[in-house]
Amino acid sequence: MSPPPTQKLPCDWSCSAPPPPELQVQGPSTGFPGRVAMELGLAGRRALVTGAGKGIGRSLVQALHAAGVRVVAVSRTQADLDSLVRECPGVEPLCVDLADWEATEHTLGSVGPVDLLVNNAGVALLQPFLEVTKEAFDTSFDVNLRAVIQVSQIVARGMIARGAPGAIVNVSSQASQRALTNHTVYCSTKGALDMLTKVMALELGPYKIRVNAVNPTVVMTPMGQANWNDPHKAKVMLDRIPLGKFAEMENVVDTILFLLSDRSSMTTGSTVPVDGGFLAT
Ligand SMILES: NC(=O)c1ccc[n+]([C@@H]2O[C@H](COP(=O)([O-])OP(=O)(O)OC[C@H]3O[C@@H](n4cnc5c(N)ncnc54)[C@H](OP(=O)(O)O)[C@@H]3O)[C@@H](O)[C@H]2O)c1
Repeated sequence: MSPPPTQKLPCDWSCSAPPPPELQVQGPSTGFPGRVAMELGLAGRRALVTGAGKGIGRSLVQALHAAGVRVVAVSRTQADLDSLVRECPGVEPLCVDLADWEATEHTLGSVGPVDLLVNNAGVALLQPFLEVTKEAFDTSFDVNLRAVIQVSQIVARGMIARGAPGAIVNVSSQASQRALTNHTVYCSTKGALDMLTKVMALELGPYKIRVNAVNPTVVMTPMGQANWNDPHKAKVMLDRIPLGKFAEMENVVDTILFLLSDRSSMTTGSTVPVDGGFLAT
């Protein structure tokens, strides 16, 4: 059976002609020159992004900066922050190991007003279940879960004291909801992060603070490359993804921007897959 003829919609997003100039996004903000812009209204707000030195966090800082957001970039390697500030002048760098509770309290204690928080820093230490070590467990839970609680407490207390609304996005994973070989600890941290997201949404909702999670499939960041470069292993995963490909950083960044913006003002406590359909299977 031949497919139905394409319907012409009032606003035809699929047309091959470029959108009108006023709707085109210029420059590096989206990575897709000419793509139709959805105005997110984030300009002028102040955001804090953890794990800002590499991968998804770095890409997010670049997008927020291009959108006129004032960004506090938190990460562990000073050289990454130095190069980020050179690329995005005005970004405020804070170098700290989020696994260190006291250092985090000291570094973020006087961070000032924050409207938007993205808890993105994470580690993936893969071990077979029978070989899981205390060290891998402690480091993973300290960074992937405990630091999310600590940083969110600092930021949310400030929002509540100012009587200001806010939005928090936790970067989880498809691994929060599916068992993956050698991912005992990582899956456990992300499963806990999904539930933390819901409880935070429950308790912070009355203060007009929304809390959501994004749950990406594999993204070829430094973390993704470390764990999914083996073509055989990658194929096994790709075969489970209906769209047949891994996510790009832009896919994850776009979803985070939406969840930070008032365009998602009635959405809280959700876990939003960016997974090509992996979690539907
Ligand atoms: N890539 C994927 O396939 C994938 C899929 C689903 C979910 N995710 C999640 O997405 C988030 C970002 O991942 P990514 O792929 O962008 O990772 P990445 O490429 O490894 O980058 C992670 C960033 O977080 C920083 N970081 C890690 N531990 C930290 C700590 N203790 N204190 C401060 N900063 C720390 C790293 O700094 P250093 O390099 O200096 O340590 C780095 O800048 C993570 O939560 C991850 O679990 C990733």
